[in-house]
Amino acid sequence: LIRKESSNLGIKAYLVGGMVRDLFLKRSNQDMDVVVEGDGLKLAKHLQEKYGGQLRYHEKFGTAAWRHPSNIKVDLISARTEFYNYPGALPEVEKSTIKEDLFRRDFTFNAMAISLDKEQFGTLLDFFHGYEDLLEGKLKILHNLSFVEDPTRILRAIRFESRLGFAMDSQTEGLAKQSANNLLTVSKSRIANELKRLFIEEDPVYGVKRMAELGVLPFLLNTLESRNIINIRIKRLSRYIITLKKEGITLDSVWISFLLLLTPLKREKDKLWLYSLNKGDQMLLEDLYELVKDNPLEKKYPDLLGDWHQHFSGISIETMLVFITLLPEETSLKGLKYILSREKMQKKVTGADLKQFGLQPSPKFKELLLNAEALQLNNPELSKEKILEKIIQ
Ligand code: CTP
Repeated sequence: LIRKESSNLGIKAYLVGGMVRDLFLKRSNQDMDVVVEGDGLKLAKHLQEKYGGQLRYHEKFGTAAWRHPSNIKVDLISARTEFYNYPGALPEVEKSTIKEDLFRRDFTFNAMAISLDKEQFGTLLDFFHGYEDLLEGKLKILHNLSFVEDPTRILRAIRFESRLGFAMDSQTEGLAKQSANNLLTVSKSRIANELKRLFIEEDPVYGVKRMAELGVLPFLLNTLESRNIINIRIKRLSRYIITLKKEGITLDSVWISFLLLLTPLKREKDKLWLYSLNKGDQMLLEDLYELVKDNPLEKKYPDLLGDWHQHFSGISIETMLVFITLLPEETSLKGLKYILSREKMQKKVTGADLKQFGLQPSPKFKELLLNAEALQLNNPELSKEKILEKIIQ
């Protein structure tokens, strides 16, 4: 379709970026990035007029996102060179050729293009040896200022290492370390977005380890705590997640815990940017915020796991993990024990058991169930009958 229509308009189009990389790696990828030499917007508008679907575009940047009625997403960009006025700034854009466009990209394996031209359809353009690096599992930037121009590329690099099992070459790694402080110039919502993408990879703990190795952590979200404290907390959280995994407890979204841990919790305005998260994740943040602000147990944490349960039964595992990570060592370990016991508990008393006593769902009913769980956590050997007897006294 794009081949036909770009030829009709006399425009040269190229498939670029992630989809080219993933074609060679035989990985699926649903997002098409197309670079056009000339007027990308003209092609995008033409495609939408002819085939329907939705179109959004940005005149100043010469970019357009077209969603074909079949739901395939195509990002169309006019070939461009970008100028950064200062590290972390949004780029100024000027029209240019495909080669210049590829040169402004992040890594060699993301800087290949496949021609969608009528005559040269399917030809690979690989000016920077991306294919070779792909075969060798090498992650390489294209020029020395790459991380300075866009410091979020450091996080992208870690993400691709993690996902593809690749490794940065030594020069790239050295420059990543040197440029880490430039992350301070990037907006928190962009950083949060990159972190989220990193943490939803299969092994988020790898991402955290790598961030620590490259010295990136202190320049991320939480500028209120010292570097040392953040490092200790992140290590602790990683350890806890591994412990839970060994016990067969996996979290739905590990990334949110890391993100929460890196979030400043002291000032109300610091958390505003997190509202770009979805509703469910915002709730986890709110819970954590409340717990830290009005911690009911601040003075003394209970010895009995059932007492922990009375306070924290409604708190999600993701929030709870971050909360205990912030506590002093001994209490923190107790908290971990509570989470483990709670998550592994096979509840002996259920709502059906209470109904047999003629009880109906109500706040009191819920309280009895909570008491039953707390009792079971304190005395795992108690039989169901004994628990029922004690709670319905
Ligand atoms: N890109 C870049 N620098 C960035 C972000 C993106 O050079 N900071 C370029 C890369 O060429 C990348 C392309 O834009 O391949 C598309 O970016 P994006 O959609 O974010 O990444 P993908 O490579 O498609 O990765 P993913 O598979 O995770 O979507």
